[in-house]
Amino acid sequence: MSAPKKLFIKTYGCQMNVYDSERMAEALGGQGYVETDQAAEADMILLNTCHIREKAAEKVYSELGRLKKLKVDKPDLKIGVAGCVAQAEGEEIMRRQPAVDLVVGPQSYHRLPAMEERLAQGQSALDTDFPEEDKFEQLKSRPKARRAPAAFLTVQEGCDKFCAFCVVPYTRGAEVSRPAEQVIREAQGLVERGVREVTLLGQNVNAYHGGMGLAALIRKLAKVDGLERIRYTTSHPNDMEDDLIAAHGDVPELMPYLHLPVQSGSDRILKRMNRKHTAESYLKLLERFRDARPDIVLSGDFIVGFPEETDADFEATMQLVEEVRYGYAYSFKYSARPGTPAAERATVDPEVADARLQRLQTLITRDQRAVQDAMVGREVSVLVERTGREAGQVVGKSDHLHSVHIENARARIGDIARVRIVASKSNSLAAVEV
Ligand code: 5AD
Ligand code: SF4
Repeated sequence: MSAPKKLFIKTYGCQMNVYDSERMAEALGGQGYVETDQAAEADMILLNTCHIREKAAEKVYSELGRLKKLKVDKPDLKIGVAGCVAQAEGEEIMRRQPAVDLVVGPQSYHRLPAMEERLAQGQSALDTDFPEEDKFEQLKSRPKARRAPAAFLTVQEGCDKFCAFCVVPYTRGAEVSRPAEQVIREAQGLVERGVREVTLLGQNVNAYHGGMGLAALIRKLAKVDGLERIRYTTSHPNDMEDDLIAAHGDVPELMPYLHLPVQSGSDRILKRMNRKHTAESYLKLLERFRDARPDIVLSGDFIVGFPEETDADFEATMQLVEEVRYGYAYSFKYSARPGTPAAERATVDPEVADARLQRLQTLITRDQRAVQDAMVGREVSVLVERTGREAGQVVGKSDHLHSVHIENARARIGDIARVRIVASKSNSLAAVEV
């Protein structure tokens, strides 16, 4: 038998790309590839890319410039670009970097085995279609190997919201939900392989409608034997159904954490962003989650320096953050994306945008730290994901998604340990088992 070919995948961007990379590795597993973490020993290298901001997209070309040199010693090496840059730029990638053999958009991953055969015959391959067939059905060749205890599971993909700044509707296409039975079967398969927590993924996950809404799906998944924890991300404020809020109060498997981006605290900017909600309607929604689950940790995304953002608009964002007290929040400087409506508009002075970003991040860090510090003395559950650096230490995530180090642990990887938090460090909590 010939030695297996080696596949190296580098993943950029969101959690859905992490999930997609796993599926691509499995699809190519059927073509005789095994994964390696060393680019230099690979027979095929795939970059699974992100197009959300200019910086993310540019990283791909500098990485391709480096990787191309590997072809000098290994002329048969195949280099592929997958993901959202592949979708957005298509054959332009091969023009800009001729060392690229394969370009595949996110909706065509089930066609990778056929594309690989073309590569093996010395041809190049490009596919950025939005095919009719169900890629998930065709991507189901999951090997039975054991998995880490926490896994991602895509339930919905694409977006019909068209926020004025965002490329996702163009790179991931229209909203599509996977049928609930398919999702439940995949979750059962994951549990059989050692998974105890799933994070349901979708660009608009709470718009899920695979024969039932997201709350109903979560209620069904909560009944899957051995599946102990459920999370979901990312949601849009306008798709929040009452039952999802209620589920946070009455489904113990649903973790007390909500990522709900708002982007800005200014109604004027929200309108220009085509968000179709106000700062107040967002705050009211968060209150309802807090009523349903008082210890819920909230998380959000912000863009500063959106076209025409004034000082007053920015202060409204600071005000909103002050009010919410996020446990986590992610803030970005606006980046004009080709083809989006906002890309046509006058931009804010980059230095002004930088200064705003700095102020916002300082505030967010303060709150993040305060929410984390407030955990000290409390009892929480931790899903143990790995061993720590020190002897006897294990590391995992709390219900609230904090990283927790357990000292002198009895718990092993895959266990859910009941712990008391004893200290708050810069990016993690320390705990002892109770
Ligand atoms: N510029 C900056 N940030 C953006 N995001 C999305 N598009 C852009 C853009 N053009 C941010 C939003 C989104 C997160 C995933 O990335 O905050 O919620
Ligand atoms: Fe990046 Fe969005 Fe594509 Fe995820 S879906 S990789 S965040 S552009």
